[in-house]
Amino acid sequence: MANIGSYESKLNDFSWQIAEKELDYKPGDIINIGEYCTDRICRMGKKDKLALIWKEHSGDIKKYTFDQMRVHANTIAHYLSGLGLQNGDRICLFMDKIPELYFGFLGILKMGGVAQPLFSAFGPESLITRLEDAGTAAIITQKKHLSKVRKIVNDLPSLKNIIVVDYDGKKPLKDGETAFFMEKEEPIENYDIFPAKAETPSVLHYTSGTTGKPKGAQHVHYSLISQYISAKYVLDLNDDDIYWCTADPGWVTGTSYGIIGAWANGVTQCVLDAGFKAQSWYDFIEEHKVTVWYSAPTAIRALMKEGDEIVKEHDLSSLRHLCSVGEPLNAEAVIWSEKVFGLPFHDTFWQTETGSIVISNYPGMKVKPGSMGKPFPGITATIVDLKTHEPIETGVVGLIAIKPGWPAMFRTYWKNEKVYKSKFINGWYICGDRASIDEDGYYWFVGRDDDVINTGGHLVGPFEIESALLEHEAVAESGVIGKPDPVNMEVVKAFITLKAGFEPSDMINLEIMNFIRKKLSPLAMPQEIEFVDSLPKTRSGKIMRRVLKARETGEDIGDISTLENDL
Ligand code: WT7
Repeated sequence: MANIGSYESKLNDFSWQIAEKELDYKPGDIINIGEYCTDRICRMGKKDKLALIWKEHSGDIKKYTFDQMRVHANTIAHYLSGLGLQNGDRICLFMDKIPELYFGFLGILKMGGVAQPLFSAFGPESLITRLEDAGTAAIITQKKHLSKVRKIVNDLPSLKNIIVVDYDGKKPLKDGETAFFMEKEEPIENYDIFPAKAETPSVLHYTSGTTGKPKGAQHVHYSLISQYISAKYVLDLNDDDIYWCTADPGWVTGTSYGIIGAWANGVTQCVLDAGFKAQSWYDFIEEHKVTVWYSAPTAIRALMKEGDEIVKEHDLSSLRHLCSVGEPLNAEAVIWSEKVFGLPFHDTFWQTETGSIVISNYPGMKVKPGSMGKPFPGITATIVDLKTHEPIETGVVGLIAIKPGWPAMFRTYWKNEKVYKSKFINGWYICGDRASIDEDGYYWFVGRDDDVINTGGHLVGPFEIESALLEHEAVAESGVIGKPDPVNMEVVKAFITLKAGFEPSDMINLEIMNFIRKKLSPLAMPQEIEFVDSLPKTRSGKIMRRVLKARETGEDIGDISTLENDL
């Protein structure tokens, strides 16, 4: 039986107080996420249970119990306090997925700091925008990334401390730089955590909008309530699970569910600190007997591209529950996962701003491949009209809207209250995505509001076209945009990457067109296909359609600091 029981019955008897009660929290109490993920789990008798199984690209494996993690987090918290850092200070984590990143995150929260995780592949430009905006006081980093920090430090007056976690003593450190070595520090058994309350700031996550500067979504310690209970109900985490969230903590999935949700539930997590490779991913699942797996469509499509044989060469029988987030999950990907793993990927929808899953498929609830599922119990969601922002009837496409007030909701955009306020209309938080609800209450994603194509006055979402394309055997991935057109305003254009063994040609172009013609309405049919070697993606794996569009039209590309590959 799944933790959620039956979705329908949970809808009736759910309240956030269930989570508060399970966490022994009462309004007004201290609620420090760092404490909840470590000390509390130890007090519950799981001191010697594995918290983290970590593997790096070289193949080295390290394992840490909840008690070791507790002490390591204390040690970092103590060190940060010793530097004079205080509660409320923004402290950036700028590291690969090394254990210190996880302990550092919890340590920052323990001492009352605001954790600002940034993806370690960011260059100096991306780094400076986010550190400047946040007025970051300290940055915890690794030797290999120090040169990037050094390039910008003189332009950042508020940045006082640069902490290097693997300093080897070879080259001298400069002013403001300090070395921290977990193995050499005196372990701090007992640390007085900062008495954070529900509304105390916890995490600052930068999200890149379509244009302009990235915005910092500010979260608070009370987010734990949503993250804990959704990890339990959606990811279905149990005491004996081995859980693998593939996301980097530079992105909200990697913190809400790659740190907080699972550890607050006292569950063992795996981390693979290596780039994507189907072989090493399957090896990892087999080696550590992963049971619950949370990943993203971009990775799933990459696995599909590698084919079914490689799956058969591995014993993946430990897997029991699969989830996905970040982009629309194509029906084809769900069908494929059922075929090769005997399990469907459960699509989950949320955002940096929502802090936790808001619409999702649940264990035990029928999966309709291609649908995002239904609102999480305790979340009131609807689809509102594009113009009036009033809820609209079943089946009509509009904007996804959520009633504010769930615990993990962001509290503001850092120093940008104006834009924060603009996201709330008619008492709804407007996500900026288009979808419709079917007669069974399932949500169907159409596209980001800014990605929707207007062809001859008809609105077409890129997702259904990309999904149809993916069903063709030669197509590995695609990005679909509206190309300006003098007659129709826009026409549909598809950028396609092909699977190994297929070469671009007029023949294959025609074949793909004929294939999707049967699946799509004439309005949604691409007028043009362009074969490309790769698609522009964010570092979290999202296809950046606006980059494809800007390339097509020669317009300004906007902020591309999160772009993964060079243009
Ligand atoms: C945007 C939020 C939340 C973790 C990572 C992304 C898109 C996310 C889905 C899904 C369709 C999805 C939306 C959303 N998105 N999940 N299951 N189906 N679209 O966080 O970087 O803040 O992006 O990602 O467009 O608004 P983010």
